[in-house]
Amino acid sequence: MKHTILYDASKQEDVAKAARLLQQGGLVGIPTETVYGLAADALNEEACRGIFQAKGRPADNPLIVHICDIKQLYTLVREVPETALRLAEQFWPGPLTIILPKAPCIPDAVSAGLDTVAVRFPSHPAAQAIIRESGLPLAAPSANLSGRPSPTTAAHVMHDLGGKIDAVLDGGPCSVGLESTVITLAADPPRLLRPGGVTLEQLRAVLGEVILDPAVMNPLAEGAAAASPGMKYKHYAPRANVILLEGSREAFLRYVNSHRQNAGALCYAGDEAELQVPAVCCGGEGDSASQAHELFDALRRLDGLGVSTVYARCPGTSGVGLAVYNRLIRAAGFEVLKLE
Ligand code: TXA
Ligand code: MG
Repeated sequence: MKHTILYDASKQEDVAKAARLLQQGGLVGIPTETVYGLAADALNEEACRGIFQAKGRPADNPLIVHICDIKQLYTLVREVPETALRLAEQFWPGPLTIILPKAPCIPDAVSAGLDTVAVRFPSHPAAQAIIRESGLPLAAPSANLSGRPSPTTAAHVMHDLGGKIDAVLDGGPCSVGLESTVITLAADPPRLLRPGGVTLEQLRAVLGEVILDPAVMNPLAEGAAAASPGMKYKHYAPRANVILLEGSREAFLRYVNSHRQNAGALCYAGDEAELQVPAVCCGGEGDSASQAHELFDALRRLDGLGVSTVYARCPGTSGVGLAVYNRLIRAAGFEVLKLE
């Protein structure tokens, strides 16, 4: 067991100490605007292997490399197409990850044997500060144990990885709350692999045609290769069996209140007063940003209800709603019940 140090991102000397750990090949949980990441020196193969070990992450699931300056992108990829520059100009720093053909300096552990690398320039000041202070591009997947909801507070990181990593830099709760949008420019036309805070509509406004990878909305067909390896693994799984109920608020309340045995609910603010089962609230109806912000904490809190089935309201799929739906449908193992 390691002693995991908790650092405070608002203290410059703490950021410097965390940066030194990274330079020495250590593992540090860092805040970003999306979710907390488990960071290591992206050019240090052994340090990156440590990330997989600490998370229990399958070796074929590649890592995102984080930068704090667009110039760093040129050192990590073979070529920067004009489309990447347009995306960077619009959405960086921010919750967008861009996949491009990788440069030879990218270790196999980072790209998991693929010929591409995923790069992101986060907007969180503490993320930028630690990248700058360390002088390194930082490989960082979400800082959860594989299969658990992504962490949106330093306490979530400590809960999952305390004792396994060197430090956590506490920068407060994450503002977006869901992982970044992932788009590949290594395919033509560009393809959205994971929806997030930057929406499909926004990407199309900049690039024109963008294909929505079928694995965003549907289970991967048996034996099919995943465009993004992360999509084939079960994700965000609470202990209870989650079922999405599609339909009106009234239909949801009626259904849940007549199926109360061992049941709980994942609902919107204001619903809980009318539910006769234990409930966890997740944002406001029709307010995708608040749902995104609260989703992972809500999924973690579902375990505390001590129920075997959780009925969840099914979110809309426009804007950031697509990202909420994508995470929730995985938590539900793609189980959706249409009411009425
Ligand atoms: O918001 C985020 O993206 C957070 C923060 C820490 O930046 N990071 C994050 O990393 O969510 P992770 O590892 O949990 O998710 C990365 C996703 C995985 O589904 C992975 O398969 C995919 O991106 N990915 C990474 N590199 C890829 C590549 N070269 N080709 C296709 N998919 C890739
Ligand atoms: Mg993850």
